Amino acid sequence: MEIIRTISWMKQAARNARRQERVVGLVPTMGALHEGHLSLIREAKKKCSPVIVSIFVNPKQFGPNEDFSKYPRTFEADRKALEELGVDYVFVPPPEEMYPAGFRTSVMVEGLSDRLEGRSRPGHFRGVTTVVLKLFEIVQPNLAFFGRKDAQQARILRQMAADLDLDAQLVVCPIVREPDGLAFSSRNVYLKGEERRSATALYRSLEALRREITAGERDVARLIEAMRSVIQSQQGVTLDYAEIVDADAFEPAATLWKPSYALLAARVGATRLIDNALIEPEGESIRVTV
Ligand code: PAF
Repeated sequence: MEIIRTISWMKQAARNARRQERVVGLVPTMGALHEGHLSLIREAKKKCSPVIVSIFVNPKQFGPNEDFSKYPRTFEADRKALEELGVDYVFVPPPEEMYPAGFRTSVMVEGLSDRLEGRSRPGHFRGVTTVVLKLFEIVQPNLAFFGRKDAQQARILRQMAADLDLDAQLVVCPIVREPDGLAFSSRNVYLKGEERRSATALYRSLEALRREITAGERDVARLIEAMRSVIQSQQGVTLDYAEIVDADAFEPAATLWKPSYALLAARVGATRLIDNALIEPEGESIRVTV
């Protein structure tokens, strides 16, 4: 496994692989790798060679009052995990390599970036699309792997790839959960003691939604209320939003008879967590994937 710190070297390595007509896979991460990331890498290993994992804590996607400086950085443990998985290249650019003095450009997917996560975290998606476009330009992957936990991010990146005629195909992989249902996230390390237990409220809320739908409930407003009430009755957890949105437009869903997402964001103590369920009509019934 080769660790690469410069853009020119990363471009060269990826270019060599493309010349040999190999399927280049990119897994963009901010490090602090957990089972969710590892599942993306395993999927990439099945489909691609070489597999390139980028580790870059992207300052542009953090707001001024967010956790950029304390975001977990665990490079040694990450390196070991990547080595064990047989990753070919780890791209770890320093911030001044990605954003040299005088850097001025950003890319923004209009509309989709303003709502939900975008409303709670102004500028967040502009930072994400800017860095991912740079990574796509540097690596020019055939396939790029993202997790469904960041469903809005995946939708926005898909739009960016379509609008800008990028060759990279996005592969969106399932959410990976701890045994008690909490979705893996690099931010889970912030959860201490009781907070860790309270954090399962997000999963329990999605499970409540699944139970209601399985029992035949189809009214979107009542389903949102069922999700909200689980979160609101959990001490120490503050709901940011609970919504059911059309999976394409990310606008409030009027019906469950089109693919949609139930999306949640909540604060557990000082830690902001997100989670979601995919809702898909299947003949006469509705499938809920948590
Ligand atoms: O999902 C993430 O970890 C980040 O938003 C990404 C895609 C690596 C861009 O910094």
